[in-house]
Amino acid sequence: MAVTGLLLVVFLFAHMAGNLKIFVGAESFDQYAHWLRRIGEPVLPETWYLWIQRAVLTGALIGHIAAATVLTRRARRARPVRYAHRPKVQGTYAARTMRWGGVIVLLFVIYHILDLTTGTLNPVADAGHPYANVVADFAPDRWYVTLFYTLAMVAVGFHLKHGVYSALRTLGYRGQAFAERVGWTVSIVLVAGFLSVPFAVMTGLVS
Ligand code: HEM
Repeated sequence: MAVTGLLLVVFLFAHMAGNLKIFVGAESFDQYAHWLRRIGEPVLPETWYLWIQRAVLTGALIGHIAAATVLTRRARRARPVRYAHRPKVQGTYAARTMRWGGVIVLLFVIYHILDLTTGTLNPVADAGHPYANVVADFAPDRWYVTLFYTLAMVAVGFHLKHGVYSALRTLGYRGQAFAERVGWTVSIVLVAGFLSVPFAVMTGLVS
């Protein structure tokens, strides 16, 4: 869980930081997207790096879900008889929503790829100009897209908070309070960074 999770977190931070280029302007953002397709040149042919990254991320995602399935099965086997009475509050909200939260994040990623990578669900869908795609996506009259992204980012945030917390607890690094603090900090920075983009477009700061 931790190794595949860490890989996904590294991707998320790189992705969030890259997205902030939208505040520099259309040219900078589109150039950055173009550069993503040329990483590794001339050693690697165009888009090879991107495809390697896609393969690694897909592998990490499958590994992450497989590890979660194994852990869930192990937990169920350890207690085959369900609790007759389960007290309402068991663990934090983030901890109790790991499985469903994960499913929501997965559904979001599928929608997101159809939206901004393949352009299938994007109103502009101009492969060479992702800036235009993002601005069209979060236009004020498409407030429901921003709402959906916001809910998905909150789900990512909770999932990440508990993931980072669990990883630090498993490693036994410092105490519980420290793991809580790091979990919250990592997830708040990430969610705020991601959400700044749709909200900047919706309010006209980026157009
Ligand atoms: C408001 C938040 C987000 C915005 C504005 C955003 C924007 C984008 C854009 C513009 C692309 C296309 C880049 C390109 O083709 O050059 C993209 C691709 C992608 N995004 Fe996001 N993203 C956001 C959040 C997320 C989150 C939370 C995840 C994962 C949980 C994610 C995962 C991906 C993936 C997997 C791709 C495909 C990369 C590829 O082509 O291989 N994004 N995103």
